[in-house]
Amino acid sequence: MPDAMPPIDRLIVALDTPTVDAARAMVDRLGDAVSFYKIGLELTYGGGLELAKSLVAEGKKVFLDLKLHDIPTTVARATAQVANLGATFLTIHAYPQTMRAARGALADSPMKLLAVTVLTSYDEGDLREAGFAMGVRDLVARRATQARDAGVHGIVLSAEEAETMRALLGPDMLLVTPGIRPADGDVGDQKRVMTPARAIRAGADHLVVGRPITQAADPRAAALSIVAEIAAARR
Ligand code: C5P
Repeated sequence: MPDAMPPIDRLIVALDTPTVDAARAMVDRLGDAVSFYKIGLELTYGGGLELAKSLVAEGKKVFLDLKLHDIPTTVARATAQVANLGATFLTIHAYPQTMRAARGALADSPMKLLAVTVLTSYDEGDLREAGFAMGVRDLVARRATQARDAGVHGIVLSAEEAETMRALLGPDMLLVTPGIRPADGDVGDQKRVMTPARAIRAGADHLVVGRPITQAADPRAAALSIVAEIAAARR
């Protein structure tokens, strides 16, 4: 069956820069090689929401990685504001109240919600310290199921978990995976990494890639090569 989504839309480039100027320079350099950008907390607090609006106006897609979590009314109102910016994806923490509130606030917006189940910096000891009785694997599975049941559209997860989560959640949940490294690339501070082709074959819908593109000698060539790898893996 032909792939409904163009491979270019499966690559999301993380704009992890402190300033809008630096992010804009990277976007201009990448040009039509990239269609989808992730703006996280650092850039958001450096003017990233205005950049998000400009990118959307220029026909790019934007993933706002804002990881919302608050009382339901606040989450609902914040979600509605973000939907007005024209973002394609917004992250929220996978607490049932938060997920239901965000989902309820979408109304007719085409924006999709991605749940962050358990931050990957947390291990068993961190969860115990924070007062949780469950281990990481069980809590991830529980929250991923709760996300699906709350009508959240997808989850952010490491590519290593993609196969298990696809089996648990079924075909309709979006799986969005960071920690991607081309076979010949530098691993950097990512501990669990996967190549673009393997992540796609494991069931990932979108790959979030930062430094392998933004720190490359030729970022545009690096992006084109990853898109080509995604296209080949989907065939
Ligand atoms: O530069 P790199 O490709 O490692 O960037 C990956 C992006 O994905 C960064 O924006 C990082 O914050 C984000 N991320 C991650 N690991 C997670 C969740 C998010 O690397 N578990």
